[in-house]
Amino acid sequence: MRHARGIIISGGPSSVYDHSSPTVEKAVLTAGIPVLGICYGQQLIAHLLGGDVRPGDKGEFGLALLDLADGDSELLRGVTDHQQVWMSHRDKVAAPPPGFRIIATTSTCDTGAIEDTARKLYAVQFHPEVVHTTEGMKILGNFLFDICQCAKDWNAGQRISLIEDLIRERAGDRNVFFFVSGGVDSTVAFMLCLDALGSERVRGVYVDTGLMRDGETQFVRETFAGFGLIRIENCEEEFLTALEGVREPELKRHIIGEQFVKVQERIIEQVGLLSGRWILGQGTIYPDTIESGGTAKAATIKTHHNRVPGIQKLIDSGHIVEPLADFYKDEVRTIGRELGLAPALLDRHPFPGPGLAIRCLCAEADQPVTRIPDGYLVPVRSVGVQGDSRSYAPVLAIDAFPSEASRLQDEATELVNRSLGVNRVIARVASREPLERQHVFPTTLTHGRLELLREADAIVREMSHESGFDKDVWQFPVILIPVGVGESRDSIVLRPIQSVDGMTADSVTMPDDLLHAMAARLMAIPEIAAVYYDLTHKPPGTIEWE
Ligand code: XMP
Repeated sequence: MRHARGIIISGGPSSVYDHSSPTVEKAVLTAGIPVLGICYGQQLIAHLLGGDVRPGDKGEFGLALLDLADGDSELLRGVTDHQQVWMSHRDKVAAPPPGFRIIATTSTCDTGAIEDTARKLYAVQFHPEVVHTTEGMKILGNFLFDICQCAKDWNAGQRISLIEDLIRERAGDRNVFFFVSGGVDSTVAFMLCLDALGSERVRGVYVDTGLMRDGETQFVRETFAGFGLIRIENCEEEFLTALEGVREPELKRHIIGEQFVKVQERIIEQVGLLSGRWILGQGTIYPDTIESGGTAKAATIKTHHNRVPGIQKLIDSGHIVEPLADFYKDEVRTIGRELGLAPALLDRHPFPGPGLAIRCLCAEADQPVTRIPDGYLVPVRSVGVQGDSRSYAPVLAIDAFPSEASRLQDEATELVNRSLGVNRVIARVASREPLERQHVFPTTLTHGRLELLREADAIVREMSHESGFDKDVWQFPVILIPVGVGESRDSIVLRPIQSVDGMTADSVTMPDDLLHAMAARLMAIPEIAAVYYDLTHKPPGTIEWE
C-alpha cells in the first residue's frame, strides 16, 4: 500500500451492517493516500469515520441529476451542474463523518458526493465508472490525474506488444488451444496469440453447440478459412441431450459450461494434446470476470461459461491464457482494429457464449397471465440486476404500443422501482388474442423451439440490417418466451439496446414502421402468439433474459 498513488473502494451489494460485509482497516483511510469511495465505498468510509449510514428499504436504481454545492471541489472540479448520474444503492449516508463537506446532492440523496480535502478522502454515492454518468470520466480523471497525480498513459491499442509479452510468458514453451465462437472477443484473443506465438503454436475448434444463430457456423468457416487453423465440431446432439428437461436458468448455464469442458477434454485427447504442452486460450473480457464474482468480494451477477468449475480448475492450475481479461468490449475492438481485422467482424453485435439457450425461456407449470393494476403479470422467470445483485422475477406486460416507447421506457424503470416484484417491463406490439387470454405453457429447451427462435432471430437480423437499424444498437437479443394461447405456444420479445460496455444499457426505441413490419413478419409464423418490446434499461433489467 505504501507505493499506491490512490485507492478506490468500489461498490458492491453489501450493507455495512451485514456481518460479513467487506471492510478495510481504518489505517487505509488515515495513511495520507488519496481514497475515493464509490457507492458502498462511500457508505463504508462514512461508517468507519463516524458518519451516519442508514439502511434503505427500497433503494434507488437508475438515473438521477447531480446538483453541485456552492464552493470549489477537488473531486468535481470542471463538472457541469445538473448532469446525469447513475445510482444503484439501498443504504445511504444520512450524515457524512466530521471533516467532510457535501459537494453534491440529488433529489433523493443528500450526500451525492462528499470530500475531506485535508485528509484526501472523497466519496460518491453514484457510479462515475458507468457511461450513464455523463461526466463520470471527468470525475475519475480529477481523482486519478489531479488528486493522485497518475500519468495519462493508457491506450488499449498501444498495449498490444505488452499483451503479447504476457501471452509468451504465460505460455512458456506450451502451445495455445482455443475454442473460438466467431465473436469479437475470442477472435481477437486468438489473433493476439497467433501474433505472439506464430501459426505453429495456436490451434482452435469451433464447437457447434446447436445453440447458435442461423448461419453462424458458415460465418466462422468463412472468417477462419484463410488461416486453416480451425476445425468445426458438430455437438448439437450432446448439448441438447445434456439440457433435456432443464428449466432452471442458472443450471442451464452450468450444464452448458460443463459440456464445453467435456467437449474440450475429448477434443484435446483426440488430437493428442494432453502432453502438457498445451494450455487453453479464452476471449474472456473484464466485465465477464467481475460479473461472475471474479474478484474476491464481487457478487455473482451471472455465472459466465468461462468461469464454471471445470474451467476454474484450469485457471487455478495455470493452464489458461486470457489476453483480454483486463479490457472492455470497446477496447477489444480497438485492439482488433490495430491488428487489422475486418470491420464486418469487429462490428458484430456481442453474442453470449451459452447462445440461444439463455434466450429461450422454459417453464415448469401452466400458469395464467394475470391482470394487476399496472398491467399484466407474466409468470416467466427473467433476470434483473438491482444494487449489484442478480435476481429472477416475473415480467410486467403493458398493453400499449411502443410508439409511445420513449415515455414508457422512463416509466418502466419507475414501475420496477415501485417494488411490484418484477424487474422487467414489456409492451405488447401484436398478439393473436388479448393479454388476459394468454398463459405460460410448461416447456423445456427443445430442438423445435430453438429452430423457432432461430427463424425469428434471422428475420429480425435481416430486417435490422436492411433498414440500417442494426447500426443504431449495440446488441439486439430476440427472446422466445413460452407464453401464448391455443396452438401458438410461444411469443417473441424484441430487446434492442444501446450500451458501451454491456455493464449498463438503454432500451432503444425502434422506428414505428420498422417495428410494425417486423411484428407482422413474426406474427406470420403460426407458432408465435405475440410480439413484445422490452422497455427496461439495465439496471434494473439485464440485457439477456436469463
Ligand atoms: P447481461 O445479460 O448480464 O449481459 O446484462 C451483459 C453482456 O454480456 C453478455 N452475456 C454473456 N456473454 N457468456 C458470454 O460470453 C455469457 O454467459 C453471457 N451472459 C451474458 C450479454 O449478451 C451482454 O452483451
